[in-house]
Amino acid sequence: MKSLKHLFEKNKVWAESITEKDSEFFSHLSKQQLPKYLWIGCSDSRVPANQIVDLPPGEIFVHRNIANVVVHTDLNCLSVLQYAVEILKVTDIIVCGHYGCGGIQAAMENKQHGLIDNWLRHIKDVARFHDAQLQATDDDKKFDLLCELNVIEQVKNICNTTIVQNSWENDAKLTVHGWIYNINNGILKDLDRCISSNKEL
Ligand code: CO
Repeated sequence: MKSLKHLFEKNKVWAESITEKDSEFFSHLSKQQLPKYLWIGCSDSRVPANQIVDLPPGEIFVHRNIANVVVHTDLNCLSVLQYAVEILKVTDIIVCGHYGCGGIQAAMENKQHGLIDNWLRHIKDVARFHDAQLQATDDDKKFDLLCELNVIEQVKNICNTTIVQNSWENDAKLTVHGWIYNINNGILKDLDRCISSNKEL
């Protein structure tokens, strides 16, 4: 072990502390995973899925990318979604954005950031769809608003995938939620966009 020795040490202490509380924890979990939730969140290091809802390994299936975007042609995200819905049969899909998102901020700027600008185009599209609402908002509130609007758009994108559409067609119990996390105080807020059917969509 050449480097990052401290991480292996921390891992050992962590695994031991879990086994101490429940000696069967890892042997049970190694046989199967049965998470009820799919989490689609930002890659930001301050927004770790399991930790902020205080759930142990095995409880959340996770996909993260910059600015929690669900792109219609992103095979990575769609494969996670398909596996979660069709195989794991999750009951809830959570799109969780966060205030102060660097991806959203970069998308609001009129300057180049390199390759990532091609990814951030999706957020510029969200801003374009909601141009009137953003224009009518005070400058100091625009950033927070776009973080929220981005979550709501990604909820719609998930609902419109063939995966979720077919699941609802088959009467599966599946709800898509839009949440936003405040990195200033660690508190989650529900954006009140729970969708469980095409009628609600
Ligand atoms: Co972010």
